[in-house]
Amino acid sequence: MCGIVGYVGPEKAAPILLQGLKRLEYRGYDSAGLALLNGSGVQVVKRPGKLTSLEKAVSDVRPSGNCGIAHTRWATHGAPNEPNAHPHTSGQGDIALVHNGIIENASDIRTQLSAIGYAFISETDTEAIVHLIDRLWVEGEPLEDAVAAALRRLEGTYGIAVISSRDPGKIVIARNGSPLLIGAGKNGQTLASSDAAAVITITKDVVYLDDGDYAVLDTNGYRINNFHGAQVNRSVHAVTWDIEVIEKGGYEHFMLKEISEQPSSLRNVMRGRLLEEEGDSRLGGIADHQPDLRRVRRVVITACGTSWHAALLGEYMIEELARIPVEVEYASEFRYRNPVLEEGTLVLAISQSGETADTLAALREAKHRGISTMGVVNVVGSTIARETDYGIYLHAGPEIGVASTKTFTSQLVALALITLNMGRRRHLSVVQGGAIVRALQELPVQVEEVLKLDAQIRALAEAYAEARNFLYLGRGFQFPVALEGALKLKEVSYIHAEGYPAAEMKHGPIALIDQDMPVVVLAPRDVVYQKIVSSIEEVRARHGRIIAVVTDEALELEGKVDHIIRVPQTIPLLQPVLTTVPLQLLAYHMAVVRGTDVDQPRNLAKSVTVE
Ligand code: AGP
Ligand code: GLU
Repeated sequence: MCGIVGYVGPEKAAPILLQGLKRLEYRGYDSAGLALLNGSGVQVVKRPGKLTSLEKAVSDVRPSGNCGIAHTRWATHGAPNEPNAHPHTSGQGDIALVHNGIIENASDIRTQLSAIGYAFISETDTEAIVHLIDRLWVEGEPLEDAVAAALRRLEGTYGIAVISSRDPGKIVIARNGSPLLIGAGKNGQTLASSDAAAVITITKDVVYLDDGDYAVLDTNGYRINNFHGAQVNRSVHAVTWDIEVIEKGGYEHFMLKEISEQPSSLRNVMRGRLLEEEGDSRLGGIADHQPDLRRVRRVVITACGTSWHAALLGEYMIEELARIPVEVEYASEFRYRNPVLEEGTLVLAISQSGETADTLAALREAKHRGISTMGVVNVVGSTIARETDYGIYLHAGPEIGVASTKTFTSQLVALALITLNMGRRRHLSVVQGGAIVRALQELPVQVEEVLKLDAQIRALAEAYAEARNFLYLGRGFQFPVALEGALKLKEVSYIHAEGYPAAEMKHGPIALIDQDMPVVVLAPRDVVYQKIVSSIEEVRARHGRIIAVVTDEALELEGKVDHIIRVPQTIPLLQPVLTTVPLQLLAYHMAVVRGTDVDQPRNLAKSVTVE
């Protein structure tokens, strides 16, 4: 989950490494550090807390050197303090290493190395790797051989970058389960990073490592070897987006910028994919796999967090319109539960980052059993995108705010496109398909309408900022929206919130309702509207404070609810896009009023690449 950057080239490394870390800070912000080869040895500067502390330390210490590695940490083993911050160094301080992942046999290695005199100063699993490299380094051999020898003894996941003053001028990187790429720059500049965002100001040519690869980076470029030591070629990808898309562009927070970008991110996920006359979708990423898709008799969707909420909506869409049975599984459960995966099952993995460890493991388990896999992914070239048999990209652009917003609504549209595609080859008529296509076309403008509610929602946030709990209720297509609304609020405002199927409330959560409990009720005009009105009555009878999200005049709610948020109406399948946006804004403004760190909420990281 951490972010790694490495640089070797003619320029001073420190400013480039800091700049890179800034772009990766969303991946973790418990501590940050860097190590440089400065001609006489390895110079390490590291600080607990956010990157600003490291920046300050670097401006005081002024480390020099043209080759270095850096890291921003999301702690898995050991508290977020200075000794546990990366880079970690060998006993003599001549090898420095940064790591993203978890070394599962770290305590065995630690015990063995401690017994022969190695002193460990941190609580991390990472430190075991650097001492192991030191231990296995045969005098006179290059750093990469020592690293390769160490890798053979590691169990677990890693992306690592290593430098040493014993073999200067190079960075050795390796990957197994954590993302890592090479930035192939010009004029002798070679970079390494967990994410293209950290290298694109210098180069847009990136090379993704595969699991088991290790590489040597120097001013002549790079060489990649596989686990067995054989040299391999990995293709160069050109990054197509510019640095401006990952800057705040005048917004106070990335989260608000990304919420506001939804009209255009929705246009992007649909662009060139709608066939109005045929009432169908054209999806290049799956077009060649139609025979396989026609054989699908059951779909298992697997994902985590917000993507799991999108998966639930995918279940409702695909079952209702394509009439294929769907199950949704948390990826973390799927991977250890021995799921039944028979011939004719399609496993669909949904992931913004394409790097979530649990989702990746679930996907690999499905592949291991010979099951077809499809991906709905945002980050181009990410591991899940590369390992699924086929899939579709969201094209939402980079999402920096830790709380997913624009990618959730894009996931819903992507799932609607998949539903259209599978449905039209089964039970969906051209007329039904055409109606969905037209509703999709209207969606971006309708989201623009919803965004105009910003001031009303900010006022609501001010009124409820002191609340300690929130309940979100929805039914049918609105139930996953309730879950997502509650998750957003928890993540960024730290207010406890629960999402519930509205009718389930009376089986338990109703006990919590009193005048201090705000209840957000999703009440668009649909087949369960009257049932939702009954749930509202039940909350009202217990003096709960009601915020209703509705789609028309909703006259029958006047006087029964405390606040009404009115969004445009669309077909039930797509209504979640329009009811989610006000809940994103509510969570955002609550967080701002409460003064939390909106884009980097405590304890979280954007992409969870550890188990
Ligand atoms: C969303 O707001 C969360 N931060 C989190 O639940 C996220 O959706 C989850 O970790 C899955 O990430 P992915 O989509 O990148 O796989
Ligand atoms: N396990 C390492 C640590 O705790 C790296 C963590 C990570 O990649 O999230 O420092």
